[in-house]
Amino acid sequence: MEEKISLDDMAEMATVDLSDMLGVLEKFPSQVRDALGTGTSGPDLPPAAAPVNIAVLGMGGSGISGDVLAALSAEKGLTVPVATVKGYSLPPFVGADSLVFAVSYSGNTEETLDCLDQALERGARVIAVSSGGKLASTARDRGLPLFEIPGGLQPRASLGYLFVPLLCALERMGMIEGAIAELESSVEMLEHRRAEYGPEAELESNPAKRLARDLVGFMPVVYGAEGYLAVAASRWKAQFNEMAKVPSFCNYFPELNHNETVGWQNLEDVCRRCHIVVLGEPALHPRTEKRVKITLDLLGGSVGHVTRVCARGSNVVERFLDLAYFGDFASVYLALALGQDPTPVTRIEDLKKRLAE
Ligand code: PA5
Repeated sequence: MEEKISLDDMAEMATVDLSDMLGVLEKFPSQVRDALGTGTSGPDLPPAAAPVNIAVLGMGGSGISGDVLAALSAEKGLTVPVATVKGYSLPPFVGADSLVFAVSYSGNTEETLDCLDQALERGARVIAVSSGGKLASTARDRGLPLFEIPGGLQPRASLGYLFVPLLCALERMGMIEGAIAELESSVEMLEHRRAEYGPEAELESNPAKRLARDLVGFMPVVYGAEGYLAVAASRWKAQFNEMAKVPSFCNYFPELNHNETVGWQNLEDVCRRCHIVVLGEPALHPRTEKRVKITLDLLGGSVGHVTRVCARGSNVVERFLDLAYFGDFASVYLALALGQDPTPVTRIEDLKKRLAE
């Protein structure tokens, strides 16, 4: 299957990218800088007494901020568990000694608002992150700390606004160390990556465009590894779904060796239409590295393609953001190569409308 348009022709790309998602991605380094401003100077935070656990309420493009927080804060010394709550039920362990982040870009996501009510009833300390809607108004009415973020974007194009304030809040409350400095250094790193992954960089020297070209006609299956690489894999999967409107799935090492590795032995025609993308990093656990090599060897003949992508950066926050930025561009280029406008997510909007009827 051929690309429908040339990924090096800016004018042609603009005829498909009607709401300029590429332009939005190009501003991502400044988004992280702005979000740092919001996160470090934002509202007064709840009393410093350490919570016994942390819950992050959020769905989809907002909910992933909880997964990012859990993975990165573990690397920055957080000693209490973080649960991401993606549904209608707040786990029973969330109570008055918990810290709860309610994150919704629109502020109107019903699952998040339901769990927020439960958290407030149980007396948890709540911090809200939103661009408006009912979440922002509840936060104002109840006097909850609110990180107010700019509106007008797609939630999935607001990753910086959504997760940076959470990390900053934990550091300001004395629960983690060093995240703010790593976020600061990430801004310059992202500016360099924009030059490599952005639309001006031609296909032959642009790894995000090359990967998108190689994904045309295939289903992306994205593999990470325990920790932030698993979160990066789930972000890539969701971006392929929402930007390119293709089915995509993700999993992570070593867990996938205990089940999914067996599953590539039948449905040969389906397996051959899959392109496995393995996200790694230079300091991958040596046993995981060995597992990746053996797994790819075992699967080699049955899948259509395999690509390995290695995170770059001088610290864990940079490495996560490098991968997230690569995946964002790759998913938008795949959308354009398929002739799909990356911005609209009509199915999500229709579904929400029908639920409201
Ligand atoms: O990408 C999307 O539009 C969705 O995944 C939304 O993020 C999700 O439906 C939740 O909405 P919100 O982010 O406004 O809380």
